[in-house]
Amino acid sequence: MSKESLPKHVAIIMDGNGRWAEKHAFPRVRGHRKGAESVRTIVTLCRKLGIGYLTLYAFSEENWKRPPHEVTALMKLLGSFLKRELKEMKESGIRLNAIGRTEKLPAATRKILLDTIRETSHGSKMVLTLALSYGGRQEILDAVRALARKVQTGAMDPEDISEDQFSGSLYTAGMPDPDLLIRTSGEYRISNFLLWQISYSEIYVTPTLWPDFGEAELLEALSEYRKRDRRFGAVGTT
Ligand code: IPE
Ligand code: IPE
Ligand code: MG
Repeated sequence: MSKESLPKHVAIIMDGNGRWAEKHAFPRVRGHRKGAESVRTIVTLCRKLGIGYLTLYAFSEENWKRPPHEVTALMKLLGSFLKRELKEMKESGIRLNAIGRTEKLPAATRKILLDTIRETSHGSKMVLTLALSYGGRQEILDAVRALARKVQTGAMDPEDISEDQFSGSLYTAGMPDPDLLIRTSGEYRISNFLLWQISYSEIYVTPTLWPDFGEAELLEALSEYRKRDRRFGAVGTT
């Protein structure tokens, strides 16, 4: 696949772990564990293909509403996943990044997350961003507050709030907007993910449940992306 036809930034709403578990008559947590294997496969393939940014929706601000035992299991799984993958991430030049209100994560998980971010900070091949305790509306509000404070202190004029300024105040500051947004498990909704950043992303929804989403499924999404005519509001090329 040529580099030009590849998205620079792929974002994924990894959905369907619970339904996968239900289908196999397993507890939900086992679906999350299998989902972590898909994360590994997809991260590795994106890195190999030369995709510069991969952003994964791992835990939403609204997911705190789930039963405590599921939340605890997800947090533990995140910690053990990061510990297990650290060596590989460093070797393959992956830089870990997190977006969201990560201060809400349990202290032990947060420590592993921050350690992994620090230890991978020299990675130059791919930025892997995990959206954790993330909500698009909350992100926009945090940006609005930061900009309002600057205006209040006189450091900025309201007229200077441009799209670039605003983008630079989001958790994703410095990252390109996603070119391709994938959602697994067949749900046609955004669920509060990257609301500002996806204004012109190509959306790909697949019925495949996240634990079943592997290399072939990602390649299919990329091939579908290649066929899209991105017009950005202008006149098309086809
Ligand atoms: C996605 O799978 C993982 C998280 C949201 C953490 P779900 O747990 O939402 O799976 P379904 O939607 O219940 O099948
Ligand atoms: C979106 O999935 C959040 C993540 C994938 C982390 P959800 O399962 O939480 O979303 P809804 O409830 O179907 O909208
Ligand atoms: Mg779900």
